[in-house]
Formats: sequence, C-alpha cells, structure tokens
Amino acid sequence: MKEISRREFMAHSARITGAVVGVMTLGAGIPLAQVGEAGEIQFPQSSCGINNTKGPKFLVAYASRCGSTGGVAEAIGQSLCHNGAIVDIRLINGVTDVTSYEAVVVGSAIRSDRWLPETTAFVEKNRHALARIPVAYFLTCLTLSRASKENQGKARSYLNPEITAVPEVKPVDIGLFAGVLDYGKLPFHIRMVMKLKMSSKGVSEGDYRDWEAIRRWAEGLRPKFLARTGLG
Ligand SMILES: Cc1cc2nc3c(=O)[nH]c(=O)nc-3n(C[C@H](O)[C@H](O)[C@H](O)COP(=O)(O)O)c2cc1C
Repeated sequence: MKEISRREFMAHSARITGAVVGVMTLGAGIPLAQVGEAGEIQFPQSSCGINNTKGPKFLVAYASRCGSTGGVAEAIGQSLCHNGAIVDIRLINGVTDVTSYEAVVVGSAIRSDRWLPETTAFVEKNRHALARIPVAYFLTCLTLSRASKENQGKARSYLNPEITAVPEVKPVDIGLFAGVLDYGKLPFHIRMVMKLKMSSKGVSEGDYRDWEAIRRWAEGLRPKFLARTGLG
C-alpha cells in the first residue's frame, strides 16, 4: 500500500472534517467549501483606483462560501473606482479596521435566509464606526434567480434581522442580486440536499448574476455616499 506523507494525511483529515462539519451546519457556519474543494474556490481581494489620489477611500467587504459573491464585490468596487474612488475589496473576515474608510459596502451570500454569520458579526462589532459613515448593504441569493415582486420582497426581508439588530447603521441603499448555483463547489451532502431543494423549486444550476444590474446599483452609490458625508 502506498504510504502517505504527514502533510497528505493532514490535508485528507481536514477534508473529511470539513465534510462532516458541513453536513452538521448545512453551510450556515464557518467557511467549509474551501476545505472540501480547496484550490477550486477563489475569494478575490484587490484594490483599485490608486490613481484617484483626490478621491474618497471606500471599502467593499464581503462574505462568501463558494466564491461568486466575490465577483459581485469586485464589480461593485470597480464601478466605484471608475467613478473616482480608491477602493479596497476584501473578505470580511480579514477586515480589522474600518476607520480609514469614508464609506463601506457590506455584502454577503444568503444561506438559510440569512447573511453569512461573519457579516452580521462584522456589522455588530463595527457598529459605532459604521454609524458615523455612509454604508450600503448587498446580498446574493437564489430567490432572485426568478425576478418577481414577491421574490424581491422575500430577498429584502433576509436583511430585516440585521437592520433590527443594529438600527444605528442605516444603509443608504440595499442591493439585492441573484447569485450562482454551482453544485461542483458544494461538499457532497450539502450538494445532495440542495439538488432536492432546488429541483423542487425548479431552479437549475447556473450563474444568475446580472452584471448590468450590479453595475447600475454601484453607480448610484457614489452620489448617495457623498450626499451622506456632505462631500458631494
Ligand atoms: C446551503 C445553501 C443554502 C442557501 N440558502 C439560501 C436561502 O435561504 N435563500 C436564497 O435565496 N438562496 C440561498 N442559497 C443560495 C446562495 O445564496 C447563492 O448560491 C449565492 O450565490 C452563493 O454565494 P457564494 O458563491 O458567494 O457562496 C443557498 C445556497 C446554499 C449552498
């Protein structure tokens, strides 16, 4: 039998642990997909607008499990840079300080009708700083894979707990975006449950992100941010 190195053993154990914990939390807890599918899932982080030396500095902080919300965060960031800002796009878990930013966009994928828990924790932890600057929220979900007034209302309601829990942070706008269903990025047991759930709802695997809608929303943010700060 082929001997495996300690490193291979640890990596294998981590994958199994990830899958087991993944089943237990059904994806609502710590990031799991990265463990099971390491190397396949990208969480983009970047900065743009460095030549906008006179522009305001904004942060786009996001949470994701399978990576697609990172693409939305980047599109929002790029649009803000295009309109004259300096922007950092970061995974929310890595953000330790928001006080150097003039405005913050906070977004997350939805799982089990809620933002991912680290997003809620971020808003709660930074509530005093965020209450003093303009903030926008966004979410990605599959409810919006089918556009209807009812689904818009449902998607908007996903953020009610956050808005109630941290009322002093008043978002200047809330972006509601369709996300991605990619079974290949889900650990086995979550994939099985999602396949059943999604097929019962008639939602097929696919990328439902509407880049034009995301860009339009982001373009509307800058004037709202500036109006709030009085810089505009
Ligand atoms: C386990 C699981 C639970 C989900 N729960 C919901 C939900 O309650 N409502 C919804 O509209 N979408 C739900 N989704 C869809 C995700 O929000 C959507 O796939 C999103 O684009 C994923 O973003 P990510 O690729 O950044 O992780 C769920 C997806 C998974 C895998």
